[in-house]
Amino acid sequence: MATRVSWLGHSALLLESDGKTVLIDPFLTGNPAASITADTANADLILITHGHGDHVGDAVSIAKRTGATVAANYEISEWLQGPGRELPPAKVHGPQHGGSFTFDGIRVKLTLAFHGSMLPDGSYGGNPAGFVMTFPDGIRVYDAGDTALFGDMALIGEEGLDLAILPIGDYYTMGPEDAVRAVKLLKPRFVLPIHYNTFPPIAQDAERWAERVLRETNTKPIVLKPGDGFEIPRA
Ligand code: NI
Ligand code: MN
Repeated sequence: MATRVSWLGHSALLLESDGKTVLIDPFLTGNPAASITADTANADLILITHGHGDHVGDAVSIAKRTGATVAANYEISEWLQGPGRELPPAKVHGPQHGGSFTFDGIRVKLTLAFHGSMLPDGSYGGNPAGFVMTFPDGIRVYDAGDTALFGDMALIGEEGLDLAILPIGDYYTMGPEDAVRAVKLLKPRFVLPIHYNTFPPIAQDAERWAERVLRETNTKPIVLKPGDGFEIPRA
């Protein structure tokens, strides 16, 4: 049993553990960095951090085709069941921040994020979230979602993180400087930068950022190309 993470470009991620597939923020159609297309995406569980189009993405069509369960904050979970989406209630989880649920042995907790969450049709999407996921092999992964730096990342770090997935793009989220400070608060074993180089306003040099992380922290940075992945080694 092992847990593997693949970056599909922008904030889209695929985590595989114990035969289960978790797809996060599946913005593939219209994503210039996407490494797969929506009609080939596979998922048992789809997680959506917040309502923006570059995160909700193809979640509805992928859920309908694969039968995946979709989880997001309560407001987004209601929208997913509304007119034009109509996901069945039994296939939707709608917890709120601080709350968690278990899906096939994978524990998922919603964390705070400082950002917006309006849905693509202008509907209210509640408050944006991050996720702390604990996989059956004990590997714990934090996806911060789109967020600014915040001091309570230290509390999230206290849970003991194997991997933190952080935006470094700047403009819409924290940039490289604050993402290094986030690593210092979270103290994960590994860190994976995302939400950069998709569009011109979020162009960043991830290799240079990784050098800073190596120099200033005890965390090992993993820089991937869209489509690439790595297996998270047990401690
Ligand atoms: Ni956003
Ligand atoms: Mn975004």
